Amino acid sequence: MKKLWGGRFTKTAEEWVDEFGASISFDQELVLEDLDGSLAHVAMLSQCGIISVDDATLITKGLHSLKEKAESNQLQYSVKLEDIHLNLESQLTEMIGPVGGKLHTGRSRNDQVATDMHLYLRKQTENIMALIEEMQGALLAQAKAHVETIMPGYTHMQRAQPISFAHHLMAYFWMLERDKERYQESLKRINLSPLGAGALAGTTFPIDRELTAELLGFNEIYENSLDAVSDRDFILEFLSASSILMMHLSRLGEEIILWSSQEFRFIELDDAFSTGSSIMPQKKNPDMAELIRGKTGRVYGNLMGLLTVLKGLPLAYNKDMQEDKEGMFDTVKTVTGSLKIFAGMIETMKVHRAQMESATKNDFSNATELADYLSGKGIPFRESHEIVGQLVLRCVTKQCYLADLTLSEFKEAHPLFEADIYEVLNPITAVKRRNSAGGTGFEQIRLALQKAEAKLKAR
Ligand code: ARG
Repeated sequence: MKKLWGGRFTKTAEEWVDEFGASISFDQELVLEDLDGSLAHVAMLSQCGIISVDDATLITKGLHSLKEKAESNQLQYSVKLEDIHLNLESQLTEMIGPVGGKLHTGRSRNDQVATDMHLYLRKQTENIMALIEEMQGALLAQAKAHVETIMPGYTHMQRAQPISFAHHLMAYFWMLERDKERYQESLKRINLSPLGAGALAGTTFPIDRELTAELLGFNEIYENSLDAVSDRDFILEFLSASSILMMHLSRLGEEIILWSSQEFRFIELDDAFSTGSSIMPQKKNPDMAELIRGKTGRVYGNLMGLLTVLKGLPLAYNKDMQEDKEGMFDTVKTVTGSLKIFAGMIETMKVHRAQMESATKNDFSNATELADYLSGKGIPFRESHEIVGQLVLRCVTKQCYLADLTLSEFKEAHPLFEADIYEVLNPITAVKRRNSAGGTGFEQIRLALQKAEAKLKAR
């Protein structure tokens, strides 16, 4: 098959070489974006008088019918035609004749492919933002139901202070909120139009880049044609926002895995999001949470991969840049899948409230309360800390918890202890009283839930 660029060649590459260089196996994902880019380009060519209205009408019709076929998955691609751009151009020309060849006037595949990817990432970024909100909605709903469900809060994976389960869930809500903001802010740079930059230097034709930018819904054009065709920072931003998001999901995944273990039994995942074992009949595994934790690695890899591809490239376009696509597609698929799974998993998980609460009773996570109690009565905190530390040691020796000590034992440790100490030691009291801004106190949580709900509604 003669190449669309075959003019200066006397022989063709062998098939396996063609195949190695081709991107059609994956860049067909860009088919609709490529056609939209071409539609805008041809409209501009005719408005600027670069091609005739009749030719433009023919080309436009052809592009529309290709779009219909693409939407019903009827297009077939050939690896001999290298990539989506050449495949579509050749099908267009097959359909409408040599006039199809006018579409590429004043354009290069270099600005074309960059345009496609900006369009693609805009669509995907908006979709991901909506999916983040779905997951936030699921977190919010569970949090609302569990404001007064208390659990041990941890540091160093050791029980630290009791907290509300809602507060713990809402921590992830706010992480996701910032993730969404990162995607939102990246849209500013996704919405730049590279179209019309040509191969690298612009074009001699009197094109109108502002017009194509407007037709494609971009806010601005790249100022510099070399920059427009050779940077992929907008993809790097997407990959890095996605890496951070996946890191958050992975941490929550890890907690879900722990919480659903027999050691914790804080939650039980719905059957729809769990799997069994082929050998051990009793098993119910949190596979999806594990898989998302695992898939985080591939997203980081995609970010590292592209950073590395780009780091030594001289301006402008280099074929290395074809390597920008698979990691991007893979990341889109991983992130959208993970968010959908998480929304469902959180929405349907069962919370073992009693189990969580009893965990807060059988530990020392109320020790800080005791120290605060003494300091509230004027003892310097360092001293209170020491006194309570000794009480804890006493309990450890006696194999009991703080609330099991008698009032005279407390008084022996310090005369300022009174009978109200038992109420203070109650973990619910400990949670309730932490009403500093952003704390786990019930009042603070209710405020936070209102703010969160307003955030979700605002969009
Ligand atoms: N398939 C190529 C890519 O993804 C399209 C651009 C090719 N341009 C070129 N001059 N070879 O990067």
